[in-house]
Amino acid sequence: MLTHEQIEKNVGWMIVLTVLIVSIGGLVEIVPLFFQTSTTKPVNELVKPYDPVRLAGRDIYIREGCYNCHSQMIRPFRAETERYGHYSVAGEFVYDHPFQWGSKRTGPDLARVGGRYSDQWHRIHLLNPRDVVPESNMPAYYWLDRPLKEPNIGAKMEALRKVGVPYSDEEIAGAAQAVEGKTELDAVVAYLQGLGLALKQAR
Ligand code: HEC
Repeated sequence: MLTHEQIEKNVGWMIVLTVLIVSIGGLVEIVPLFFQTSTTKPVNELVKPYDPVRLAGRDIYIREGCYNCHSQMIRPFRAETERYGHYSVAGEFVYDHPFQWGSKRTGPDLARVGGRYSDQWHRIHLLNPRDVVPESNMPAYYWLDRPLKEPNIGAKMEALRKVGVPYSDEEIAGAAQAVEGKTELDAVVAYLQGLGLALKQAR
């Protein structure tokens, strides 16, 4: 048997046993999450996979690095819930691959921004934030008012289906049609307007 002293004085044993203990601790905490309904199933029937336009908007959100200034995760603290609404729960994000939770908040959290402003407000705000919020330091995304080019939207949906998003064959087949004639601005606004609605509407 190894004694406490032998382990502490032998770097090899120390490393091996530390890694072993940390791995067991990690597995015990992480593995159950893959099987818990609260983390793997939508929180209610209002959580739906992104339609093609919103999915395209989400990709633009990622492309433009909006997550560098905006989180999408309301923490369960009074100061947060008073400002943003119900705290975020895992079941709202089951169709997000990858999550846009983030942690950097130069701007406000966007987890429940859906429905807070009109589409028109978002359009003006994205093209030049200072037009509606004079003291804003958010960049102007004036180039978003251009045609949305998404030739691969169907393939993207198929890829998401492989990781568990339940898109039907018809939805995938109709995706290219759905994004036709839209602008990038339309797509980002559609994406923003859907954020966090599932819990908002359920209350
Ligand atoms: C450099 C940091 C920065 C980046 C990058 C940024 N924002 Fe902002 N955003 C802000 C700040 C600061 C505010 C608060 C002032 C305002 O409303 O303009 C804000 C406000 C907002 C609001 C209003 C939120 C509310 O509840 O009032 C929305 C919506 C928004 N941003 C969307 C976006 C989107 C979409 C992108 C990417 C295309 C983006 N932002 C990129 C800093 C940023």
